[in-house]
Amino acid sequence: MLLSPAELPFPVSPAAVYGRAAPWALEIGFGDGRFLVELARLHPEWNLLGAEVAPASVSRALRRLRREGVARARLYRGDARFLLRNLVPVRGLERVYVNFPDPWPKKKHAGRRLLQPHFFRLLATRLANGGALLLTTDHPEYFEFATAAGKASGLFAVRPGPPPPETLRTKYARKWLDQEKPIFHAAFHKIAEAGETFPPIRRYPMPHALMQGALPPAEAFEKQIETAPEAGVVLLEAWQSGPGLIILARVEEPELVQEVLLEARPSNSGVFVGLRPNCSPLVSAGVKRAVGLLVRWLESRGLETRQRSY
Ligand SMILES: C[S@@+](CC[C@H](N)C(=O)[O-])C[C@H]1O[C@@H](n2cnc3c(N)ncnc32)[C@H](O)[C@@H]1O
Repeated sequence: MLLSPAELPFPVSPAAVYGRAAPWALEIGFGDGRFLVELARLHPEWNLLGAEVAPASVSRALRRLRREGVARARLYRGDARFLLRNLVPVRGLERVYVNFPDPWPKKKHAGRRLLQPHFFRLLATRLANGGALLLTTDHPEYFEFATAAGKASGLFAVRPGPPPPETLRTKYARKWLDQEKPIFHAAFHKIAEAGETFPPIRRYPMPHALMQGALPPAEAFEKQIETAPEAGVVLLEAWQSGPGLIILARVEEPELVQEVLLEARPSNSGVFVGLRPNCSPLVSAGVKRAVGLLVRWLESRGLETRQRSY
């Protein structure tokens, strides 16, 4: 019932995942899964998909779906933007629900809000023609922010209206209704797509290099940063591991942020530089850059590169 990108082709074939072709609806940020159960009851003819970043919520929702006998729902633990871009085929979804998204009320955090211009461009490519996103929120500022971004995209007709009754039965809906807060709702109907297709993130073979020379000690390590629009890489910290080094890297790419362990260790044929075993990131262009950045730092400390594969 849980979808794992490591085991799936990009994008997925919904008919193969669900065992039937049917209209496909996604809920982003499903929390405790109550709304997915409601949807399964209201629309037994739909295939359901949920995305949620919080692992504890995913476990709770999974238990709830099993308890309620919901068989046509699949859950993804991770960022909905990654799911949309990499697992959902172009024009695959009829409906997307966002119920009570995190409002990120501070101005300096507005960039973390989900319903941004970039998101609407991506969403338009994953919604079928005639498909729609339904937003329900208690937060007037976020509502304004999202409706303005949707309209400005030129890709959606934004129609505010009363929230569908089922969106008022989620955990957060009950909490805000108990506090007598007003609830805001709008449907974003797809009217166009931008030229972008947002192809799935490309995966590469394991990047590595063989170097020659004496490894510096971990104390000699200083944070290394490389910024580029397609991927930002920071080598954050290094630890001594016997005669080798372990390095923590943060790799930021659109819709994908990964923390990755790299290593540089003596081997029979020199110094091996690459990904630490058992750390299994998605080997993206950014992860390759992280290995390249580590190699360059080691070169600056006097090592020579004999062979590189990244
Ligand atoms: C305020 S809660 C609302 C939960 C639920 N929809 C409800 O109404 O009870 C927002 C949820 O969205 C999840 N979330 C935030 N950003 C997300 C993202 N980019 N992808 C998937 N889930 C996300 C959070 O972990 C949290 O569970």
